[in-house]
Amino acid sequence: MPLKITVIGTGYLGATHAAAMAELGFEVLGLDIVPEKVEMLGRGEMPLYEPGLEELLRQHVAGLPGSSGRLRFTTSWEEAGAFGDVHFVCVNTPQKHGEYACDMSYVDSAVESLAPHLTRPTLVVGKSTVPVGSAARLAKRLAELAPAGEEAELAWNPEFLREGFAVQDTLRPDRLVVGVASERAESLLREVYAAPLAEGTPWVVTDYPTAELVKTAANSFLATKISFINAMAEICEAADGDVVKLAEAIGYDERIGKKFLRAGVGFGGGCLPKDLRAFMARAGELGADQALTFLREIDSINMRRRGHMVELAREAVGGGFLGKRVAVLGATFKPDSDDVRDSPALNVAGQIHLQGGQVTVYDPKGMENARRVFPTLGYAPTALDAVRGADVVLHLTEWREFRELDPATLGEVVTHRRILDGRNALDPELWRKAGWTYRALGRPRA
Ligand code: UDX
Repeated sequence: MPLKITVIGTGYLGATHAAAMAELGFEVLGLDIVPEKVEMLGRGEMPLYEPGLEELLRQHVAGLPGSSGRLRFTTSWEEAGAFGDVHFVCVNTPQKHGEYACDMSYVDSAVESLAPHLTRPTLVVGKSTVPVGSAARLAKRLAELAPAGEEAELAWNPEFLREGFAVQDTLRPDRLVVGVASERAESLLREVYAAPLAEGTPWVVTDYPTAELVKTAANSFLATKISFINAMAEICEAADGDVVKLAEAIGYDERIGKKFLRAGVGFGGGCLPKDLRAFMARAGELGADQALTFLREIDSINMRRRGHMVELAREAVGGGFLGKRVAVLGATFKPDSDDVRDSPALNVAGQIHLQGGQVTVYDPKGMENARRVFPTLGYAPTALDAVRGADVVLHLTEWREFRELDPATLGEVVTHRRILDGRNALDPELWRKAGWTYRALGRPRA
C-alpha cells in the first residue's frame, strides 16, 4: 500500500508541499484550521501567490475536471489522524510580538491536536523552522499524547524552499536533511522522498538538534552574505566606489561565489529576519549568546538600509517630505511573490508616509496584502499611475515589470525625473539617457 500523507498548515510551505506530494503520486490530505482557506483550496484556488502552484494544485485537487483526485483538504484533526501514515507539520513560527524569540504556539498546538488521533504506528515530520531543542521536546509530547505511544514517532526535516521558486525547490531540492531517532523513521522518509524527487539529491541523515540547526545556520549564512555586501555598499558610498562592480569581482572567487551578493535595501520576508532573531534568543537560553553576537550586527546593518533609503529620498526631494509626492515601485519583500511580511519596500514607503510624504505604491502582486498591512498609503493600479506627478521614484522590489519600464514614457508624467534604485536592478544608462537623475545604493552618483 502506498503511504498516505497529511500536510498540516497550508501557507507557502504547506500548500506547496501538499501539491508536490500529490504530484509524486501520494494520496494527500491538507489540513488547515482556517475554514475559508480549506474551502478555497478545495476549489483549486490559492489563498496566496506562488508561481506555478495554482496550476499544480489544480492538477490534483479531488473533484476538479481532469485532476488526479489525489489531493483533498480538511479542518478535521480526527480525519487527518485516521488518514495519514506520515504527517508533515508545515505551520509558521513567527517572531513573538516585542521579543526576539519565535512563537512556537502553532507548532505546539498542531502536535497536540493531532496526537490524540494517532492510534497506529505513524511518523510526524516537522518542517517548520524551530529553535534547536524543539524536536526532542515535541517527540516526548507526541509519545505522551498519542494512543499509539512510542509508535507515534517524530522526525525533523527542515525545508529550504525560497518563495517565488517554491515548486521547483520542493520537487528538485538541492539536499534533503533529516533528523531522526530511529531507522524506521529514516526508511519511511526515504520511501516518501523516493525517486524521482531524491534521484541524485544528497541526503544528510542526522540527529534532531543538528537537523534543526542546519536550517537556522543556512539562513544566518545567507543573511550574513547580504549584510556583508550591504556594509561594502556603505563603504563604497563613502569612498565613491561601485558595490555592483565590487560584488562581481569578488564573486569570481569560487570560494565566495556570485549569489546573494546583491546590495540594496536589504533582506525581508517571513524567514531571514525572524530566524536570525530567534537564533540569537535561543543561543542566549543555551548560554551560548556570545557565539551569535555578530548576528546582531547583521540585523542592524540590514535595518540601516531602510533608513538610508529614506534619507536618500529626503535628500532627493530637497530635504523634507512635506508636500512631496513619492512613487514607490514594489511592496513585496522580493519579486514573484505576494508576501509583504517584513518587506523593506513597504517599510520605506511607510516611513516616508509617516514623515509627511504623499506616497503612492504599485506592486504587480502585493497590492492586496500591502493594503491590508498599510491601508493609509496611496495605491495605484499601474506603475505609470503610481509615478504620475512624482517628485522622486523609488525602485524597491526588483520585479521584471519594472526593469522593462520605458524611462521616456514615465518621464513624461513625473514632476521631476529622479529615480533611486534600491535594488541595483535597473540599467543606469537607460534612465540617464532618458534625462533621469539615477542614483543607486552603493554606487557613484553620476
Ligand atoms: C529564504 C531562504 O533563501 C530559504 O532557503 C529559506 O527556506 C527561507 O528563507 P526567502 O525568504 O523566500 O527564502 O527569500 P530569499 O530569496 O532568501 O530572499 C530573502 C531576502 O533577501 C529578500 O528580501 C531579498 O530581496 C533579499 N536579498 C537576497 C538581497 O537583498 N540580496 C541578495 O543578494 C539576495
